[in-house]
Amino acid sequence: MANPSLLILSGDGIGPEVMAEVKKVIAWLDAKRGITFDVSEDLVGGCAYDRHGTPLHDDTMAKAQAVDAVLLGAVGGPKYDSLDFSVKPERGLLRLRKEMDLYANLRPAQCFDALADFSSLKKEVVAGLDIMIVRELTSGVYFGEPRGIFTEGNERVGINTQRYTESEIARVARSAFELARRRGNKVCSMEKANVMESGILWRQVVQEVHDKEYPDVQLSHMYADAGAMQLTRNPKQFDVIVTDNLFGDLLSDLAAMLTGSLGMLPSASLGAPMENGRPKALYEPVHGSAPDIAGQGKANPIACILSFAMALRYSFDLGDEATRLEKAVEKVLADGVRTPDLMGPAGGTPVNTAQMGDAIVAALDASL
Ligand code: NAI
Ligand code: MG
Repeated sequence: MANPSLLILSGDGIGPEVMAEVKKVIAWLDAKRGITFDVSEDLVGGCAYDRHGTPLHDDTMAKAQAVDAVLLGAVGGPKYDSLDFSVKPERGLLRLRKEMDLYANLRPAQCFDALADFSSLKKEVVAGLDIMIVRELTSGVYFGEPRGIFTEGNERVGINTQRYTESEIARVARSAFELARRRGNKVCSMEKANVMESGILWRQVVQEVHDKEYPDVQLSHMYADAGAMQLTRNPKQFDVIVTDNLFGDLLSDLAAMLTGSLGMLPSASLGAPMENGRPKALYEPVHGSAPDIAGQGKANPIACILSFAMALRYSFDLGDEATRLEKAVEKVLADGVRTPDLMGPAGGTPVNTAQMGDAIVAALDASL
């Protein structure tokens, strides 16, 4: 069987710095676990604009469509701020998401015990937290028609339309149920079925997909406002949460902040299953290119490394290796190894980007 394939797009700013540490993990899997990826690399964002005059070359787009998973660093930087909108670095990322039709955005909120003090919530509420928010990304009120600012009589009216088709709901529900089977086997669907027709349909369709295709997964429904309360009161009751684009935007940011530093947050965007059964997939840290610290060895590579762990679990069915990698990160944090962003009042051993990567690889070695 062919090796699993991975396209690495490191991008700009700290992107290449954090990606260098992921490459150490990829090399380790090859050398120590006999897991070999066919890795190709290409440009996205500002660096692609510098080379080709476009933030995403057609050849790169074609490669992204052909591989099993894309791993992206970050794009953008002050150097590109004055560029025309059509060639801004972010357009490269948007084109990837759009043409790969990545409709399920996965944002985990995972709290490592050693960093529980960084949370705005009480330590016991967040310690050991591990939940996944699945946000519908390509439809809903951000895209629905009619939209615009109109004049009615003698005043202006702003209009956006929340619109979901049955198939749009069903496909993101399937993504959530598939994920739940690889995790805690529990899905909570959030909408506002009490006041919105699109919410009523959402609830019906999620229930139907569940009953027909995923009866083994535990499903519950919650109004999104109650969900926001429960996320701050007792987040550990959840495993996978599936919700629409607007509520998911809010709830995933809320959940992310339960866990502390931006340098720790991974994400994935998934699309339809390909012929080999794997979903179209793009994995990337939540953070940007961090121009304020780029080139100084200060970047925390953990968000990017945990994004790769998600790829192992959700694209390559290597859940055990993903867990091993997450445990290695946990161990290094418990040992007090700290990039500058993680240095709290409790102190720790200060390290740079490369040293953090080395410590994680050493912890992987120790796990054998
Ligand atoms: P940012 O996420 O790059 O940085 C925000 C703050 O967090 C900065 O102080 C930065 O130093 C810090 N930070 C971010 N990642 C870190 C890490 N791994 N380790 C330690 N500290 C980290 O967001 P900002 O400053 O708003 O945007 C900078 C550039 O990145 C802009 O050009 C923006 O358009 C782009 N951007 C790109 C994204 C992407 O590629 N997906 C997402 C967000 C912003
Ligand atoms: Mg947001």
